[in-house]
Amino acid sequence: MGDKGTFWMPEQASKMAAEIDSLFYFVFWISVIFFVGVIGAMIYFAWKYRHRPGEEHIPDPLPEHKATEAAWIVIPLILVLLIFTWGFKAFLKLNMPPPNAYPIQVRASSWAWNFAYPNGTSIGTELHVPVGRAVKLTMSSDDVLHSFFVPAFRVKFDVLPNRYTSVWFEATQVGEYDIFCTEYCGTGHSGMLGKVVVHTEKEFNEWLQSSGQGDMTPEEYGQVLYTQQNCIVCHSVDGSPGVGPTLQGLYGRNEQLQDGSSVLADENYILQSIVEPNFQIVSGYPPAMPATYATLPAEQLDALVAYIKSLAN
Ligand code: CUA
Repeated sequence: MGDKGTFWMPEQASKMAAEIDSLFYFVFWISVIFFVGVIGAMIYFAWKYRHRPGEEHIPDPLPEHKATEAAWIVIPLILVLLIFTWGFKAFLKLNMPPPNAYPIQVRASSWAWNFAYPNGTSIGTELHVPVGRAVKLTMSSDDVLHSFFVPAFRVKFDVLPNRYTSVWFEATQVGEYDIFCTEYCGTGHSGMLGKVVVHTEKEFNEWLQSSGQGDMTPEEYGQVLYTQQNCIVCHSVDGSPGVGPTLQGLYGRNEQLQDGSSVLADENYILQSIVEPNFQIVSGYPPAMPATYATLPAEQLDALVAYIKSLAN
């Protein structure tokens, strides 16, 4: 489905993509033409006027040539003004969502994405959207600067703490596309990945309806949330160390804390570590977990605790 992109650009999967690419290729070909022209002339003249034995003639200075000077001022001026106008128009377009755009709230934290829908659904890592409909993202960060980037949509915008920024797009084909964080934001920056899942309108509505617990057990729902809420980014479930301690065998273990004391990892400890992560820091790990999980609904917290309990040895 769709094109696979070119050597320079990934496939085009949004309405903006073609316009951004035209601008890119305009700048690209101008650069190629000037590069070849300037370097070509330089090589040609270096060869043509090379020093020959027996020739000691020093050329006369060239007289002023007004037309040439005007040309190298006016032509580049026209070109850069053209690039500016083109780019500025595209920038404005990217910032002005149509009034009927579907609103989604984006929260960035080190180092994960979270997407919240008008019906209360909140999900990490995966941004689900309908095809052929304008989607408006209102974005903010819980900590440092991040930047939201979907190459296939040619959409990129900074995500700041204490301030909302917004961007919009209209996906033109069903499929899955990468989300990158494109502002260096610390140790986990390169792992701050996500996916846009573009559905048909009907599939999207079905997904939105079924995005809660449904008939899953708390353990099963907790496992889904473990991925959706990005716990997976820092906490493994197979014993391997990450940014944070592994969850494998956590329940019932005696955790060695940074202040030298230890604590039995029971339900209360696990719940508190989710909602108030900096209260007790496990020895050997940085206090890197955001406090944002305190806002999860109670049944989701219960499900996460149940899932972590199920990972006991
Ligand atoms: Cu977030 Cu880089």
